[in-house]
Amino acid sequence: MTVRTILRPAPNAGATQTQRKEIMRPTLILAILCFAFVPAAAPQDQAAVPDLAPLPIHVQMGTGNLLIDNSFSIAIDGHTGDLLDRGALRFLGNLSHETGIPMHARLGDPAKATIIIHADHSSPAVQQAVEEENYTLDVTTSGAKITAPTPLGVLHGLETFLQLVQITPDGFAAPALHIDDQPRFPWRGLMIDVSRHFITLPALRRNIDAMAAVKLNVLHLHLSDNEGFRVESKIFPKLQGMGSDGLYYTQPEIRDLVSYAHDRGIRIVPEFDIPGHSTAWFVGYPELASAPGPYAIERGWGVFDPAMDPSREQTYKFLDKFIGEMAGLFPDAYFHVGGDEVNGKQWDGNTKIQEFMHKQGIKSDDLLQQYFMARIQKLVAKRHKIMIGWDEILAPGLPKESVIQSWRGQDSLAAAAKLGYRGLLSNGYYLDLMAPASQHYLVDPMSGDAAALTPDQQKLILGGESCMWAEYVSTEIIDSRVWPRNIAIAERFWSPQDTRDVDSMYRRIDSEGRRLEWLGLTQRTSHYAMLRRLSGSNDSAPLSVLADTVEPVKGYARSEANEKANVSATSSAPLNHLIDAVPPECDLARHFSAAVNALVASQFKDAATEAQIRAQLIAWRDNDAHLEPIIVGSYLLKEVAPLSQNLASLGAAGLQALDYIDKGEAAPDAWRTQQLATIAQATLPQANLLLMPAPAVQLLIQASSGANGTK
Ligand code: ACM
Repeated sequence: MTVRTILRPAPNAGATQTQRKEIMRPTLILAILCFAFVPAAAPQDQAAVPDLAPLPIHVQMGTGNLLIDNSFSIAIDGHTGDLLDRGALRFLGNLSHETGIPMHARLGDPAKATIIIHADHSSPAVQQAVEEENYTLDVTTSGAKITAPTPLGVLHGLETFLQLVQITPDGFAAPALHIDDQPRFPWRGLMIDVSRHFITLPALRRNIDAMAAVKLNVLHLHLSDNEGFRVESKIFPKLQGMGSDGLYYTQPEIRDLVSYAHDRGIRIVPEFDIPGHSTAWFVGYPELASAPGPYAIERGWGVFDPAMDPSREQTYKFLDKFIGEMAGLFPDAYFHVGGDEVNGKQWDGNTKIQEFMHKQGIKSDDLLQQYFMARIQKLVAKRHKIMIGWDEILAPGLPKESVIQSWRGQDSLAAAAKLGYRGLLSNGYYLDLMAPASQHYLVDPMSGDAAALTPDQQKLILGGESCMWAEYVSTEIIDSRVWPRNIAIAERFWSPQDTRDVDSMYRRIDSEGRRLEWLGLTQRTSHYAMLRRLSGSNDSAPLSVLADTVEPVKGYARSEANEKANVSATSSAPLNHLIDAVPPECDLARHFSAAVNALVASQFKDAATEAQIRAQLIAWRDNDAHLEPIIVGSYLLKEVAPLSQNLASLGAAGLQALDYIDKGEAAPDAWRTQQLATIAQATLPQANLLLMPAPAVQLLIQASSGANGTK
């Protein structure tokens, strides 16, 4: 059986109980060090552009601050409407929450309000794929004003204002400035796979809040796959009744979610992936499939054989009614039909389908899929919707209004644009691959062949969507899988193409990522709660020291390792291991590595940085003694014992290297050879985790040869 996930593209390369007193010691050091390694915040002078994400197109700093206290009020001037009313009140609620200052949740008098919002006119009742989203924001010491053509622009301006609010010696305040802002791309999406693991409505709502905070505007829900059918159909109730384990959204819940998203300037695009990825449909309706049933909900991951039968008219009759029902439930103009990764095995094995192909002159499985998609496109168009699908739907005769979502890359997007099709890039934005934010950030929809498109063809590239495939994602951990990395992607879709400063991006996604917690995002709270669960009744501080140094393995390595070890990875396997608790990206290792680079560059003369590095290495060296007894008491932690020992070895090796360097002695070759072997060992995945500080410690060992210049 092919593993589905392996067929997905690699991340775009263009671009990867001892005494309590003792236990506390390394943690304390760590807390100080984490702070020390973080680049200093911009000083509070007027010229410093605040840490906004995504970065606006134009920011002009003014002088002074607008103080925010409980006299703060908001008023609407010009066009009014529910979107603005609710947006304004939600803004006050968020401002109150972030500052802890009670605020009157009512709209004020424009003559007296602290912030005035103005939209020239209304937006269409159903948010369109392309709308005016620009805004200007003026903050002075006496008040603020947001002006935009539409309520959508105002909502974006309000989110920018919230990002400006900082604590100052005089109170909470927003700096005086002028911002002109507009998005680079109209379609800025996040796809969430709710099929492989069901994601609850509260989790979806808080992710919508986070999306709005960083100006994303499309939530694409991957609602059906082999592992689950997640929406209530009243016409075909066995879809959710037999295909979901009872984990699905009712129609009233969907309507509420759509309206929640709409209030925040976000469209919801539904995806029902057909003709492949469709086992969950067949549990209740086996007659739709190309091979006789019975079928069961798939529990594993991969590309599976079941596919809809394109040769039976009954299939289209069923889908006609189903698409009609769902087109009524989801107001968006776009309807996603998947179309990816059909392996054709059921078609090849079905004599009736083979006869049908012969009669129709259909000479290959690809052409059969093309025939099926053409029929589906007509059913979608009949409901006044525009069809979207993955790359595979691109075929001669596809109506030009269709949209191609590319999981294969910019070149395939460019090929579609040359033929006149609009497209979205998702290749390079697969959040499940555990790549660092920097890697996603530097993937541009307009690179590769897309860079050579004519201006008119480039206009066909609507933007992109990050994809949160859910093989190893649950409601408990989804926030840490999406955020803060997705802020970097949101910036790629919003900000000008030349916004590419990775250090600036990391600084800003860190501060915005923390702010998201005021909106109820759980990426940090659930991390610490999971570490406590792993540690049982013991102090989780030593585990935290280890957790801050590791990252999950990359790409599809987790699935591959499971297969190799014959560990069955299914939707019912608990996602409660250390790999599930740690974020995809280890900030501490990045800061540690930057500190080591700086020390090497200073030829080991930067004493303050060396002191920080030494303190960190000591904390790592000594942590295993504290963690080991906790590991013994937790069946979930046994797998991390070698990691903890390796971290101790890294700490010891790094310290010895610094000792040699400080003494001005070249480390003996035999010692270095042995230490480099230890490092090589430490870089191997353990428990599907990578020990991230290993390369920086390796650098110290190499430097201890004396060749790189020592004191
Ligand atoms: C996909 O990754 N098959 C859309």
